[in-house]
This record gives sequence, structure tokens and C-alpha cells, in this order.
Amino acid sequence: MAEALKVLDRVSSKSGLQFEYSHELVGGAAIDAKGKALPEDTLRACEGSDAILFGSVGGPKWEKLPPNEQPERGALLPLRKHFGLFANLRPAVCHPALTHASPVRADIVEGGFDVLCVRELTGGLYFGQPKFRKEIDGEMTAVDTMIYKESEIERIAHVAFKAAQLRGKNLTSIDKANVLENGLLWRATVEKVAKGYPDVKLSHLYVDNAAMQLIKNPKGFDVVLAENLFGDILSDEMAMIAGSLGMLASASLGKQRDDGSYFGLFEPSGGTAPDIAGKGIANPIAQILSVALMLRFSFGLEEEAAGIEAAVKKAIDSGSRTGDIFTGASGTRRVTTAEMGAGIVEAL
Ligand code: IPM
Ligand code: MN
Repeated sequence: MAEALKVLDRVSSKSGLQFEYSHELVGGAAIDAKGKALPEDTLRACEGSDAILFGSVGGPKWEKLPPNEQPERGALLPLRKHFGLFANLRPAVCHPALTHASPVRADIVEGGFDVLCVRELTGGLYFGQPKFRKEIDGEMTAVDTMIYKESEIERIAHVAFKAAQLRGKNLTSIDKANVLENGLLWRATVEKVAKGYPDVKLSHLYVDNAAMQLIKNPKGFDVVLAENLFGDILSDEMAMIAGSLGMLASASLGKQRDDGSYFGLFEPSGGTAPDIAGKGIANPIAQILSVALMLRFSFGLEEEAAGIEAAVKKAIDSGSRTGDIFTGASGTRRVTTAEMGAGIVEAL
């Protein structure tokens, strides 16, 4: 986050635009300081803002708390729900200079790829009721409920089709229609919405097959649309194929405002990396690219957003690599979080 804010400040000094921001605690840090993952004043500050730039929450230290008090279920999910952030955009971009960081075969990712995951974020198994763990007939039993209303599928499908129209006009919708009632409704609803977008080529894949096809031929995909849990899983897979989870930004958006912008929460797609916390070696790019998405979607600043994306590309092209994307390739060097941030600020 420190590096991301330096980038935002540079955008500011370069463009003359002023960004007013405040720092609020959330997740593990908030539990430690205030005993609550999502303190009232954090929520109020978010309500009074035009966008939320979100760091990462969670870690082993808080895993023994009751589930609803943990950073994920006590802060991140309630924030998504509170602000109605149903549309999660996760651009999985494999930079051509980073294909060697991808664990998949060189010929598969050669030249890089660019897939946009559109994940439904406020429905499905994450939020469906009932949801509990209790003893039934003498043994512990867990229940999660997968539930989608047609209107919830429709609105996320519109987001995906509109995104596809602005890109390669190719949309793959993911479901499990061979097993789940939810899958049948998902597929039928997406088909219905498709009628309004005749210029977009729509295809459907079962989620298991999608997991396989994405790794077999990521370049064959443009926009991928999935419900909450499937999108969670597939977007991690895409991030890894692209080289590192540390590169993947995300935008979580609610309803569009009248001026075309969105209230949104912008965060790296990955969670925390407790194994390297505090060492100063994490890749700041996902957080920095989340600033770009914030400028694009919440502030309508396309030029500034694209400027950050170009600066990231430039820093990578210059050979800077945090540990997660460092492979020892010639012309590259391993850098710290702060060095990567400084490189991007300089490129900007
Ligand atoms: C993500 C994360 C979250 C999710 C966790 C931290 C609750 O994995 O944003 O993908 O599952 O949505
Ligand atoms: Mn996830």
C-alpha cells in the first residue's frame, strides 16, 4: 500500500489533480488495535469516500478466532456486501517479458496473454443462507447454500458482455450445469442476456473443463464470466499462469453512477502473504495496478490509469523483478518492494 500511495501521489503531482485520502484500519490490524475486523469508523470513512483502496487482510495470527470475527468473514466479505459490490473484475495479464515466470510451458504463454475474469461477488455459496455447522443426528454437519436469483445473474452477465464488447468480443461463461440447479439457471440466464449483445461470441464451459482449458490455452480466452466461488478459484489459477498472484489487481464494483463512474473497492486479487510479511520483498504491482483500476472506474481518469499501467510495463521491461517473478533471466535483477515502487514512480 505504501508503494501504491507513492504512485498515486506521483499521478497527483504530474497531473495537478488532488486526491483526498484517509487511512483506516481493517482486518487483522483492526482486530489488534480495536478488537474488531471492521470498526465502525472504518465503515463510516468508506461510506464518505468515492472509492476504497484496499490492502490485504488476514493471516495465521487471526485464524483461531470465531469465523465471523476473522478478517475475511468479519471485514472483507461484509464490505463487499455492504456496498453491493457484485462485479469483480480481475484482469489476468501475462506480460510478454514475464512469460518465463509462468509455470506453464513456454510455447503456451509465448507472447503473453490478457484474460479478464468477471466474477460475481455478492452471491452464491459465500453468502447464501442457511450457513452453519452443528451436530445433526449425532455428527457434526456443515451447510453452505448456493443460491442465485435470475436478477443477480443478469446484472453480472451485462457487466461481462459490456466488457467483452470493449475487448475481443469473446465471452466464456462458466457453470456446472451438468450437476447444479444453479448452473442450469446461470446458463439459461446468460443465454437470455446474450440476445442483447449479438456482436459478442458466447460459449459455455463446465468449471472443471474450464480449469483445464485455461491452462491448456490461455490465449484462447478473452472474457471469462463465473459465479462467486468458481471465479475465486479460476482467477487464482489465471494469476499463476500469468506469472504471479502478486501481479493481479482487481476492481469490485457496484451499480454505475449517473456520470458513468462506479463506487468501488480496489484490491490485489491475492490475499496476504504471511510467509514474507514484514520482509519488504512483496510484489507491490497488484496493489499499484489496483490504483490504476480505481482511477479508471471510480474517477473516470482513463489517461492516468493507462499511465500507471504503462509505467508498470516499463519497470518490468527495465528488468526489475521482485522475488515472485525473478527467475534469474539475463538482463533482470531482484528488487525489493520499495525499489519496485520507486521504479514505477520514476517510469511515471
Ligand atoms: C479473494 C480472496 C477472498 C475471497 C478471501 C480472502 C475471503 O480469496 O478476494 O479472492 O475468497 O473472495
Ligand atoms: Mn481468492
